[in-house]
This record gives sequence, C-alpha cells and structure tokens, in this order.
Amino acid sequence: MPRLDEFVFAPDQETERVYLLGLGLPGVSGEELEEQMEELAELARTAGAEVVGSDVQHLRAPNPLTCYGKGKVEELKALREDLDFTTVISNEELVPRQQRNLEDALDMKVLDRTEVILDIFARHARTHEGRLQVEAAQLRHLLPRLTGGRKLSRLGGGIGTRGPGEQKLEVDRRRIRGRIRELKRDLEKVERSRTLHRSARRRDGVPVVGVVGYTNAGKSTVMNAITSAGVLEADQVFATLDPTTRAAHLPGGMKALFTDTVGFIQKLPTDLVEAFKGTLEEVTEATVVLHVLDISHPAMAEHFRSTNEVLDELQAMDKPLVLALNKCDLVEPATAAMIKRRGDWSPYEEVVTISAKTGEGIGSLMEAVERLAQAGMVRVELLVPYDHSEVEGELRERGRVLELDYEGDGISVIAEVPRFMASRYGRFLLPAAVGPARKRASRGRAG
Ligand code: GTP
Repeated sequence: MPRLDEFVFAPDQETERVYLLGLGLPGVSGEELEEQMEELAELARTAGAEVVGSDVQHLRAPNPLTCYGKGKVEELKALREDLDFTTVISNEELVPRQQRNLEDALDMKVLDRTEVILDIFARHARTHEGRLQVEAAQLRHLLPRLTGGRKLSRLGGGIGTRGPGEQKLEVDRRRIRGRIRELKRDLEKVERSRTLHRSARRRDGVPVVGVVGYTNAGKSTVMNAITSAGVLEADQVFATLDPTTRAAHLPGGMKALFTDTVGFIQKLPTDLVEAFKGTLEEVTEATVVLHVLDISHPAMAEHFRSTNEVLDELQAMDKPLVLALNKCDLVEPATAAMIKRRGDWSPYEEVVTISAKTGEGIGSLMEAVERLAQAGMVRVELLVPYDHSEVEGELRERGRVLELDYEGDGISVIAEVPRFMASRYGRFLLPAAVGPARKRASRGRAG
C-alpha cells in the first residue's frame, strides 16, 4: 500500500500571495466576521502565505454555485492584475462544487478555511499519531473533491498541497480509500500502545504537565525555555516518548514531563476535532495543565475563553491549572502588571507573567508548576538503612526532600512523595509518620 509521502509532490515554494474572502450572512455580526477574517489572515500567515488583500460580501444566503455573488467574482478577477495573488482563501466553507466553480471562474487555486487549517496541522503534526490523523483527515477532505472532478493540477504548490499529491490521486481513488482504511487500523494500534505508555508513566508517578494554548501563543517556545532551564535529559525510561514530550527537573529537583499540544483555533471544523483527539487526550491525562496566553494579542480575552471551553469539554478544568501570561516583552511592564491584576483568571490557581523569548519569569513559572504538581503528595518520615541508600536519589527525583540527616543507624529523611511511593517504602517508615503534604496553594497568584 502506498504511503502518503509517495503522493507528496510540492516542495515549499516562494511565499504564496493570497487574497482573503469572507461571507457576511444574516445572524453573524460585523464584529464576529471581522474577527474571523483576522484569524483567517493569521492562519494564512502561519501556513506561510503573504496576505495581499481581504474583502467581505454580505449575502442573504451563499450562492449555491460559487458561494459568493457573480459580481464579487468578477471584481476579484480584475483585482488579480493589480495585487498579483495566486490563491483565494474563503472564510466560508466551500462544498466541492462551489470550490470547483470558483477555481474555474478565477482560473486560480481556491481554498477554504478547513484546508488552511489542515495545512497548518500537516506542518505541525510531529507525533506519529498526529501525522496519521492529519493524513486521514486530508484524504477524507480530498476524496469528495476528486469525485467532483476538481482540477487539482491547478493547485501547483503551496498551501493545501502539503499532503496528498495530485496525478496519482486522480488515477486511483481506490488507493486512497485503501490508504484511509490502513490509516484507521494504524491509528487503532497507536491508540492501544499510547494507553499502555500512559499507564506506564502514571505508574512511575512522574507528573505530566500538559501545555495548551491558542495557536501562536508561544507553547513551543515555553517548552524550550522550560526544558533548557530544567536540564533536558535523555533518560532511558523516557526514550519511547514522542518528540513533543520532554522531561525536565523542577526547581526542587522533582522530575516532570512536559507535553506540547496542537494550538487551539476558534470554530475548529468538527471533522478536524477528531483528527486532534490524540494530542488533546494528553491533556486529559495530565497532572497539571499549563495554559500559555499571548497577552500582546488584541483578542487575548477571546483566546483565553475559547481555550478554556476546549479544556472544559475535555473535563480538564478541574485539574490544577497554571496560566502563563506570555510575551510580556511586547507590552509595557505597567500594562502587563495591570492585565495580571485586573483579569478574571479564575479558576487558575497560579498566574505568572513571563516572556518565553527572553526567559523572564520562567523560574517563577516552574516554581508554580512545582507547587501544583506536589498537590496530592503525602509527607513521610523514613529511616533508610545504609544498604538501601539508592532510596535517597529516588526521593529527590520523585518527590521533595525537606530534611535529611545521616545518622548512626541509617538516613533519616522527611520528604513529600507521591502516595504510591509512601507504601513502597513502608518498611522504612517511622511509626505514625505519614500525613498529608502541605496544602495546595490557595487560589492566590504567584510570580
Ligand atoms: P502553534 O504551534 O501554532 O500552536 O504555536 P505555539 O503556541 O507553539 O507558538 P510558538 O512557540 O511557535 O510561538 C509563536 C511565535 O511567537 C514565534 O514567532 C515565537 O518566536 C513568538 N514568541 C513566543 N513567545 C514569545 C515571547 O515571549 N515574546 C515574543 N516577543 N515572542 C514570542
């Protein structure tokens, strides 16, 4: 069975010049449409394109043949000379027929929002599972368009082509269906092994920090800042981790795993939600959720709200939550302070202002993560015989050593550890020496 890379044909070309088109329908306010168009421009730029113009048309209903009105299509044709764009991106979802007709009328590539998002996901999918899911979503999206006879030869390269290629697809749709079935089987396999890995991780008691946030908020930059501050390590235990998960030491020495996720996007088309279930499921399994928010973005409040909505759907809002107010280097210090003070950040227990780029606040952020990662730990007092001195290292890695003395009959330790470890060291416990760890920080703010 052929693999997707056999179909991939378009090397990245020079920056693609795109024109954005939106449809104002009854029931959608001007403000909403404007926001969507801004986000579409951001998505197009994220996909590597240059936006040379943008326009909206107000209609009572989409034109069944071309989505937009005839006059608008003519206008676009004329504009093409002046603005020299090669692609039109429609904010409105296009059915295969509308897309084909528009491409014929304009004699250029026409994409819709879903295709741009798929393209971004194709570039960003780093895990094996993510790649399989994106490929499946791309093929499912493409299939009805092939049946509709869309002229894929017009695609040429750029956005929408980083995925399945053209000629081979045209000659053999059956192979695509076969590939979709194969992907489904592979995904089921990955799903099974992921569950195994996850339970192995949980057994190990290492806290997992799920890094979430709106697209472009700075999640990957935060991951890099944290793991370089926390001394990245190549540990055998974690050798099987996917590339978006990294191990780091928190300030007190405790080990934690940080997992990056795909950025959230407003109004993610429903058929794409499934494609990212894998990445998002990491969040459901996380011990702590770290939400990265770009405070230099004008739609910050909207991003905060929509990311929380997704977290809520994943039932992750009950977890210990840390909010990183990122990109503080891009706003005045007084503005950053005001945003932090005035914002309604509940139910986030820790709110830290940072710049992942300059490193400002990363130390405080890691301390905040550590405070929450310790939630649910228990305090133990042990007397460890010298012939079990490896226990000292384990306690430092998995928990937090509060006091330690080398005494005549062994190492006397007071530590906070995950509950399962307390029972593992039961034989070293001093009588009546297990109790709840310090309370989780109250809903105050750190950093
Ligand atoms: P997606 O993968 O699209 O979800 O993005 P992301 O959330 O992983 O964002 P990423 O880390 O790729 O950062 C997006 C852009 O913001 C990049 O150009 C970063 O260099 C920039 N960036 C991230 N953090 C900061 C920051 O603290 N200050 C400034 N000035 N730029 C930042």
